[in-house]
Amino acid sequence: HGQEKKAGCMSRLIIVSNRLPMSLQAQEDGSYTLHQNVGGLATAIGPYHRSHKDSLWIGWSGIDPQKYSEKELAGIRQAYRESRCIPIFLSKEELNGYYAGFSNNTLWPLFHDFSHEAVFRQEDWEMYRKVNMRFAQVVEPLIRKGDTIWIQDYHLMLLPKMLRERYPDASIGWFLHVPFPSAEIFRSLPWSREILEGVLGANLIGFHTVDFSASFLASLHRLLPELPVNQDGVVEMPDGHRAAIDAFPIGIDYNLYRRTAHSSLARAMRRGIDEVCGKSPRHRYRTSVTAEGVAANEATASDANWWSHYMKEDIPESTLAKQAASSVGSRSNKVIVSVDRLDYTKGLPERLQAFGRMLDKYPEWVGHVTYYLLATPSREVVESYQRLKAQVDQLVGEINGRYSLLAWTPIHYITRSLSIKPVCGIYTAGDVALVTPLRDGMNLVAKEYLACHDGRDGTLVLSDMCGAADELTDAFIVNPYDIDMVCEALHNALEITPEESKRRNIRMQARLKVRTAANWCTSFLDSLRQVSAPGMTDRRL
Ligand code: ADP
Ligand code: G6P
Repeated sequence: HGQEKKAGCMSRLIIVSNRLPMSLQAQEDGSYTLHQNVGGLATAIGPYHRSHKDSLWIGWSGIDPQKYSEKELAGIRQAYRESRCIPIFLSKEELNGYYAGFSNNTLWPLFHDFSHEAVFRQEDWEMYRKVNMRFAQVVEPLIRKGDTIWIQDYHLMLLPKMLRERYPDASIGWFLHVPFPSAEIFRSLPWSREILEGVLGANLIGFHTVDFSASFLASLHRLLPELPVNQDGVVEMPDGHRAAIDAFPIGIDYNLYRRTAHSSLARAMRRGIDEVCGKSPRHRYRTSVTAEGVAANEATASDANWWSHYMKEDIPESTLAKQAASSVGSRSNKVIVSVDRLDYTKGLPERLQAFGRMLDKYPEWVGHVTYYLLATPSREVVESYQRLKAQVDQLVGEINGRYSLLAWTPIHYITRSLSIKPVCGIYTAGDVALVTPLRDGMNLVAKEYLACHDGRDGTLVLSDMCGAADELTDAFIVNPYDIDMVCEALHNALEITPEESKRRNIRMQARLKVRTAANWCTSFLDSLRQVSAPGMTDRRL
């Protein structure tokens, strides 16, 4: 608390999100180390928090308090405090109703246009309200005159109003990291008015795109028509505070990704992947796997025999002949990459189908393109995520079973969570990044891939259903539901010349270099200061 006291006299930034940006890992000596969490929110705001000593972050620790003694919990609090984080511990019951239930089984699917997955349960809603109140109780005693409070995401949509009631003049911002749905979808939520009123406790309400702000305004008109909204999207609230609505497209720490791509670990990963995929000389023999078999070495001969023997029934003779005609090394081997949380909004099954279809339609890629699929399980307590994991496991198995050669596996499927260096290693190894969410607020993976290919070729195939598609218009833009379209775009992206790929990237990279995560934070906070009342007069102080 020493740090908090010292900071007490200055104006501080209090960030509040469901999950803290870091998780703890216990060491053998009883100490704890902190690791950055996966997800756009942690990636974007984490570095800003680390470099701004006047900021404090309050959120769920991800830890089950029942598994630890009081002494251990005190140690955990202390470890977090050193990073200016204040952990909230939630019970199993609270997590079920608030996190797995209302946040991830109701709001998440609804906001991503997956209404059919959304579950409406009164008890989840009540727990959501209760846990938002718990957050309010933790935040309130920390607030000092002049502080700025920045609340994040769909888990905490009631918190702005709860804090506003205690601090009428506070400077409160709220940002949604996911899409905001159309008014038609949003109003199907039985508690839609309460949610809107909760958010309207903020002075500034931010979204990734103008489309999402427009959807929010449309919901306001429909559900709370009595509220006056001016032409600039500012709502005059009955208690006298003003709530502005605006778009702030989030960016990445471009230099961090550019630099990390050159770290020795990332470079070693890239070399390793190149070798495994036959891009480097050691494994060059794989490029000579043809139907007739160019008997350059044993491996080639056995692969070719295997190939002819097992695949002949499925692949037309003409195609086999075409393959045989391609001489050794004429097609350079390629790597496709993707990095996601295992989430049904990311379109993983559709993407895998498109990859499988490409191997079917363009069999010249068989043996020559390898897909590195990094997909870390997420929200495993939620049933829809368990189903998705089973579906992806099965599809990967099917494609690998159907197309593998003795010395080539089409998909390398990694479900471990990797830290930034190996993730950048995967990005840099990718000739093509396949980023095809069915719906996504922004999608930072697309931006990170481009930063890792700074000044280089490397082709982005990007879904038009994410916020990033508004900015990254030089990518191969696809409808992620259209399997044929993704299959064609993937094939074209693999065939593109390095010059053309580089030319497309330069324009997108120029934009990403300027619109960084740090600039995004500053721009949101500057706007918040402008729209908030000049000084915070806490009635209780
Ligand atoms: P979301 O916020 O929905 O997860 P984004 O693409 O906006 O999607 O952000 C994901 C962030 O998490 C990126 O910074 C990405 O590097 C990181 N990430 C996603 N999946 C993984 C993974 N499997 N392993 C490591 N980091 C990941
Ligand atoms: C998305 C959400 C974040 C969330 C992250 C990871 O990025 O917008 O709020 O933290 O996914 O999800 P999780 O449920 O593991 O926190």
